Amino acid sequence: MEQYIIKGGNPLVGEVEIGGAKNAALAILSAAIMTDETVLIDNLPDVNDINVLLEAISGIGASVQRVDRHTVRINGSGVGSMSIEYEYIKKIRASYYLLGALLGKYHKAEVALPGGCNIGSRPIDQHLKGFRALGADVEIEHGKIVAEAEKLRGTHLYFDVVSVGATINVMMAAAMAEGTTILENVAKEPHVVDVANFLNSMGANIKGAGTDVIKIRGVEKLHKSEYSIIPDQIEAGTFMFAAAATKGDVTVLNVIPKHLEATIAKLQEIGCEVEEFDDAVRVVAKRRLKSTHVKTLPYPGYPTDMQPQIGVTLALAQGTSIITESIFENRFKYLDELARMGANVKIEGNSATIQGVEKLSGARVSAPDLRAGAALCIAGLATDGITIVDDIVYIQRGYERFEEKLRSLGAVIERVSSEKEIQKFKLKVG
Ligand code: EPZ
Repeated sequence: MEQYIIKGGNPLVGEVEIGGAKNAALAILSAAIMTDETVLIDNLPDVNDINVLLEAISGIGASVQRVDRHTVRINGSGVGSMSIEYEYIKKIRASYYLLGALLGKYHKAEVALPGGCNIGSRPIDQHLKGFRALGADVEIEHGKIVAEAEKLRGTHLYFDVVSVGATINVMMAAAMAEGTTILENVAKEPHVVDVANFLNSMGANIKGAGTDVIKIRGVEKLHKSEYSIIPDQIEAGTFMFAAAATKGDVTVLNVIPKHLEATIAKLQEIGCEVEEFDDAVRVVAKRRLKSTHVKTLPYPGYPTDMQPQIGVTLALAQGTSIITESIFENRFKYLDELARMGANVKIEGNSATIQGVEKLSGARVSAPDLRAGAALCIAGLATDGITIVDDIVYIQRGYERFEEKLRSLGAVIERVSSEKEIQKFKLKVG
């Protein structure tokens, strides 16, 4: 298994280019099969999750042509199978976006039930509630979701839970339903807006994405489009916290500062200087940071996908911080790993109390999930000594060229996969 080995202690300094938003791209690539014409999508992040989804899309008969690392041409006219195999959904839950796309276009879809994952049980009851409200019969048979409809009719649905996935999935299915659909209590994340904008670029009629109410007037057909994915605010925030935790000076390029408001507010609150430009944000941390309280909330609140990153940063701050994770029930596992580096943390239910310490010590830790893995790398970068992060396959799922981008900012980090390589690294860094 590959690992990252890190010699911490260097402040990160410089500029880093941010890629396209993984969570927008997963939905947009799925929606691309809703037209029989060709769709060109660029600013795709070159990460494992995207590559697996593209395999799933070509697996059902669509033509998928990689133009370059960050651009793909998709034509869904060849789609013959409406069934997405378990092997794909096991690798990435977001294959379930093909459910909304196939149901919307072909009124039939079969997708293996996604399991839970390391951050919680992650039910999909709201997705199914939405499909049923549009008139689909949805059954769970032998671990598969089977959805079918004579036709889909517009509906008025109030989600019981604010869900990014359910909002996007039902919005896709409703885009080609007969009549008008009103969705309320919806997610407002930038990637929800990006999917709505993409569907509209194909001829859909969706209004209100990014607000509490989305209005969708169903259309008969969708047509070709050329579309560019929005920048990934979570990748950007991850590098911004890496700057904060290492007392560095980093500018993230190709971002939309508006999407980073909650993250910027917290960075300023804990003592960072943050400068915003049109499509860049600079984070400077000159002295020891201060504690704060943070509660994760649906957008525009503080993002749950940025919770581990602030957690490791607060472990070194002056004072006692409290983090409340209100979105997922099991997203503090990284704190157990951080405690092995000397952090002083106490978890009680969905809140964690972090007593800042002067220093952490390098250790061997394991990435429990994508964002926590990136956060543990930040902890290693902020710590004198050597840290080894195991199970970095999680990090590869959502961060393109992670170690290369960190090295370009002065980090001493390498990907290794044997004791021999670890010894070699230790000799090299002394
Ligand atoms: C998306 O997951 C993201 N994944 C997650 O990012 C992100 O953490 C999450 O949104 C919240 O922002 C993708 O976009 C691929 P939800 P999703 O449905 O859609 C409950 C990452 O690191 N819920 O908004 O699955 C659910 O249990 C990943 O990139 C139901 O109860 O999240 C959770 O408590 C991790 N019933 C809450 O809603 C449902 O039908 C929010 O989940 C659906 C969700």
